[in-house]
Amino acid sequence: MKQSRLMAAVVLSIFLFTLILSGCGGGSASKDIKIGLLNEMTGGNATFGTSSANGAKMAIKEANAKGGVLGKQIQAVIADNKSEPSESVNAMTKLVTQDKVVAVTGIFASSNAIAASSVAEASKMPFLAVGATNPKVTVDEKSGKVKDYTFRVCFIDPFQGTVGANFVLSTLKLKQAAVLIDSSSDYSKGLAAFFKEAFTKGGGSILAEESYLQKDQDFKTILTKVKALNPQVIYVPGYYEEVGKIVKQARELGITAPIIGGDGWDSPKLVEIGTAPALNNTYFTNHYSVDDTSAASKTFVEAYKKEYGQAPDALAVLGYDAANVLIDAIKRANSTEAAKIREALAATKDIAAVTGSTTLNASHDAVKSAVIIEMKDGKQMYKATVKP
Ligand code: PHE
Repeated sequence: MKQSRLMAAVVLSIFLFTLILSGCGGGSASKDIKIGLLNEMTGGNATFGTSSANGAKMAIKEANAKGGVLGKQIQAVIADNKSEPSESVNAMTKLVTQDKVVAVTGIFASSNAIAASSVAEASKMPFLAVGATNPKVTVDEKSGKVKDYTFRVCFIDPFQGTVGANFVLSTLKLKQAAVLIDSSSDYSKGLAAFFKEAFTKGGGSILAEESYLQKDQDFKTILTKVKALNPQVIYVPGYYEEVGKIVKQARELGITAPIIGGDGWDSPKLVEIGTAPALNNTYFTNHYSVDDTSAASKTFVEAYKKEYGQAPDALAVLGYDAANVLIDAIKRANSTEAAKIREALAATKDIAAVTGSTTLNASHDAVKSAVIIEMKDGKQMYKATVKP
C-alpha cells in the first residue's frame, strides 16, 4: 500500500515536471513567451480569422517542437475582434493589459487593423498585421508618418488595385467598368480608388460608381442602375458575404459581364453564397494560390491538411507566414522587449515564407507578388502571378 502511494507520488511528480518542461502547465505559463493572435474569429469575416489563427498556431507548434524561441516555449493567446473595429480595440487592449503578450499578430480586415493599431501604437506593442492591405494600416492618415509599432506581411492595395486594373485592360481587353463600393470598409473604399486610378490611367473609363454597406442583403437597386449603363466589366472590391450576394443577384438580373474583385473574395463561403454557376466569369486578385508548386508551399499544404483535415486558403498561409516572421524577429531581437522586437521587425529581410520571400520596406509593408484567380464551376483556378 505504502509502496503504491509512493509510486503514485513519483509518477505525479514526473508528470508535473514534464508539464513544466514542456511549458504547457498552468503554473509555468509565465515562463512562456506569449504572443497574441488577434483575429476575426466570429462575425461577418469569421472564415478569415479562423484560417489565420490556424496558420499561426501551426507555426507556433512547429517552432515549439524545435525548442521554441530564446530558449522558451511560445504560448498563443487567442483574441477575437468579432469582425468589428471597436472590438478590435477591446481585444488589443486586453492582450496588452491583461495577457501581457510580447507581440501581436493577426487581423485581415483593414478597418479592424487600423483600429487595433491605434492601441498598439499608444501602448508600444509590436503588431504584425496579416492580411490588412489598406495603406492607412501602417501609415498614419493625419501625419502621413509611418507608424512605429505596426507592420504587415502582405502587399498593399495601390499594388492590388493596379494588378486588377491591368488584368482587365490587358488580359480581358475591356475598357468600360462600373465599380461597387462597400462604403463601411476602408479596404473597399481604398481598393476601389486605386483600381479607378490605374484603370483610367491605362485608358479605361468608369461608367458608374455605386455604394452599399456591410450586412446589406438586397443589391438589386444598384445592380439595376448598373445594368442600364451596360458596362463591359464590374469591379467589386468587397468581402465574400456581400460579394456572393452581389454576384448572384447580378446574374439573376441578366448581367453576364465579368465581375472582378480582390483578396476579400477568398473564402470557401463565397461559392456557398454566390453559387458556382453565377461565379463563372469572375476573377479576383489574391496573395496565394494552393496551386503554387514551390517546395515550401507543398510542404506547408501537406502539413496543414494533416493538422486540420482541409486544404489551407490564402489566409491560413498568411497567418502561418506572419507568425514565422514574428518568431524570427523575436529571435533576432534576442529579447522580448517591445522596442527591440520593433527594431527586428523593421529589419525583416529575405525571410523564406510560403507566400514568397518576405522583406519589410520603409513603410513596414511587404513587397510581394499577387496572383490572379478565376472562379470556374465553383473552383478557384490559378491564372497568373504578377510581380511587384
Ligand atoms: N485585404 C483585406 C483587407 O484589408 C482583407 C483580406 C486579406 C481578405 C486577405 C482576404 C484575404 O481588409
